[in-house]
Amino acid sequence: MKYNFDKICERKNTNCYKWDTTKDGVIPMWVADMDFEVAPKIIENIIKKANHGIFGYTMIPDDYYKAEINWWKKRYNFDIKKEYILPTTGVIPSLSSIIQTFCEKGDKVLIQSPVYHYFNISIKNNDCEVVTNNLIYENNSYKIDFEDFENKVKDEKVKLFILCNPHNPASRVWTKEELQKMGELCVKHNVLVISDEIHRDLVFKDYKFTPYASICEEFLKTSITCTSATKTFNLAGLKASNIIVENKDLRVKLSKTLNKNEISSLNIFGIESTLSAYEFCEDWLDELLIYLEKNKDFLLEFIEKNIPDLKVVEAQATYLLWIDISKLNIKSVEFTKKLEDIGKVRVISGATFGENGDNFIRVNIACPLEVLKEALSKLKITVNSIKDNI
Ligand SMILES: Cc1ncc(COP(=O)(O)O)c(C=O)c1O
Repeated sequence: MKYNFDKICERKNTNCYKWDTTKDGVIPMWVADMDFEVAPKIIENIIKKANHGIFGYTMIPDDYYKAEINWWKKRYNFDIKKEYILPTTGVIPSLSSIIQTFCEKGDKVLIQSPVYHYFNISIKNNDCEVVTNNLIYENNSYKIDFEDFENKVKDEKVKLFILCNPHNPASRVWTKEELQKMGELCVKHNVLVISDEIHRDLVFKDYKFTPYASICEEFLKTSITCTSATKTFNLAGLKASNIIVENKDLRVKLSKTLNKNEISSLNIFGIESTLSAYEFCEDWLDELLIYLEKNKDFLLEFIEKNIPDLKVVEAQATYLLWIDISKLNIKSVEFTKKLEDIGKVRVISGATFGENGDNFIRVNIACPLEVLKEALSKLKITVNSIKDNI
């Protein structure tokens, strides 16, 4: 390995949301960022920019767009053009602007629960109604209830479907067939698909990510894709992302909202880091994926051998593992509280991601293996303590 993912990096007292809002002595495995140092080339290029010493108004250079275009082509064989790309300061601000552009007050937006909770928040913040197509939990994984999906998209008030591709927290990499089926129903019922592909690069080795818009011309023209280098390369604090919109009519409308909301001007370091990541750091990502796979395998084996009351849902993507705690007969909020109090580990309750997430917890494994080992032994102590007190 060229890069050292075992290195323990001190994040306390750095205004780190994940660590500095967590009590001393507690291992934070909640917020979705990684405890790994960023790829050296990104740091080097940021330092170069910083050393210039002037941080005035800045432009997004052509190379930034080229880097995004090349990444899609190189890793996913998906051809996009510069004019499709609308840079923004984050995927969630983008989703908000998309909802504002294509929905009116009281319109409905479809999501698939359990799902990243900011979808819900963003829809409600923009005075729209959340409609849920609950995923079906079966055989240790999730699948789509297509009958319910069609019933939901049929509703004329449903204007958008926010697809999480790959899915956080269900850890599913949707297959081309699944995407096709959902897409056909959305096209049939005139529902615009917003594909959040922020986790596209974080896919385990036996699975293949399919960009929704790459499936066919019709999907390309009736969808908007949101993506970012921030999850893949651990750059969330630098606030840079891209929206991909082929359809000019949609793009013009959306651009107006982005300008109105002032979220199209990226900061110097957001631009530099995204560009550097895509251009120079693919080898870092390839090693990261090997490391995450190792962490995931370790966790699977540990839980199977030592905490058989827990069941890890099949992990296909993201570094966020979804663990079934239903055998313990305890609600996820209570479980996470006990895990923090007894085990000194902070994870997120499944209920955060929707009512049907309540038998689960979400655990972030993007940390050095040593830390993961310690957290797992504490998880075991907590589960034993809960069982002793039943
Ligand atoms: C599916 C999904 N979308 C968006 C985000 C956040 O994106 P951003 O930080 O660019 O707003 C996350 C973060 O965890 C996520 O999991």
